Amino acid sequence: MSAALPVLQRLPPETAHHLALRGLRVMRGHLKAPERDGPEVELFGLRFANPVGLAAGFDKNADCIDGLGALGFSHIEFGTVTPRPQPGNPRPRLFRLRKARALINRMGFNNHGADYLAERLRQATWRGIRGVSIGKNADTPIERAAEDYIACLRKLYTLADYFAINVSSPNTAGLRTLQAADALTGILQALREEGLRLREQHRRRVPLLVKLSPDLESNELQEACEVIVRQGVDGIIATNTSTRVPGFEAEYSSRGGGGLSGAPLETRSLEVLQLLRKTLGADFPIIGVGGLMSADAVVARLAAGANLVQLYTGFVYRGPALLAESLQRLDPTPRR
Ligand SMILES: Cc1cc2nc3c(=O)[nH]c(=O)nc-3n(C[C@H](O)[C@H](O)[C@H](O)COP(=O)(O)O)c2cc1C
Repeated sequence: MSAALPVLQRLPPETAHHLALRGLRVMRGHLKAPERDGPEVELFGLRFANPVGLAAGFDKNADCIDGLGALGFSHIEFGTVTPRPQPGNPRPRLFRLRKARALINRMGFNNHGADYLAERLRQATWRGIRGVSIGKNADTPIERAAEDYIACLRKLYTLADYFAINVSSPNTAGLRTLQAADALTGILQALREEGLRLREQHRRRVPLLVKLSPDLESNELQEACEVIVRQGVDGIIATNTSTRVPGFEAEYSSRGGGGLSGAPLETRSLEVLQLLRKTLGADFPIIGVGGLMSADAVVARLAAGANLVQLYTGFVYRGPALLAESLQRLDPTPRR
């Protein structure tokens, strides 16, 4: 895949993305994981082979589980999935900011729906940790969002190792209002009750995590933390993309808006992680994501208190080399 990067990076970004996924699917039997692996991480009852995963949105429909899994990620977060299939926003909706090593996207949860994702998860053989990010359909009124999250939970409960409740995408109208204390309480309470019921039914406990926006103010983050702890959520993923990275106002407006990811997000995502760690104490599980473009950045995020990290834009720009370098830095143990 690394050899194909210079070509892919000359194509329109969404075309390049689809080609990369197709290439990984075709090549899946021939891909080699990095030579170094570990250290293992035990978190919310799951054992991760190493601390580095692939963030949500890269393989929304789990079309490429075995190809991506073969690269050596300890976990992959599929989705964000919605109960029903939907096309997402009109194109163009994904933009490269090459100099800044960033992307702006307003994909809008384009995905084939929960039934399709379930089938893909059933068919794949990769044995790493499978996260599933769940969201709401664009045409579901925000007051009824909980019904969509619950529908996804039900359809995918036996197939996911953990769920990420996505209330932080900037590209679905009103979604981020679900992070406010009252709305978040409503969603989490409903999901918790359904989770308990499903746990009884299937004799299996699937952890629930919440993914937060980097654009929340400190007091909003603290309020969200209170709710998250009170509702017994298993962990936080921080952060999603940002609609207001300082200095990028012109880039946002010339592309018609969206969420920024990649290098310019690193500082804010790290800040949010530090605030969360301080608020929640040493033991609360946090996955750090946002602007990890180098092995140094991965090491720094873990040192700042992330239990695990996830890559997205760094993987788009640097390919599997970023994962290999990170694993090399984290643990010199040859893969068993
Ligand atoms: C094209 C694109 C699509 C994304 N789709 C999703 C998504 O469906 N669900 C989600 O939780 N995050 C989504 N994200 C956000 C990433 O998972 C990640 O949180 C964010 O990009 C910050 O990490 P990065 O700077 O390493 O890219 C998407 C990001 C990009 C660039």
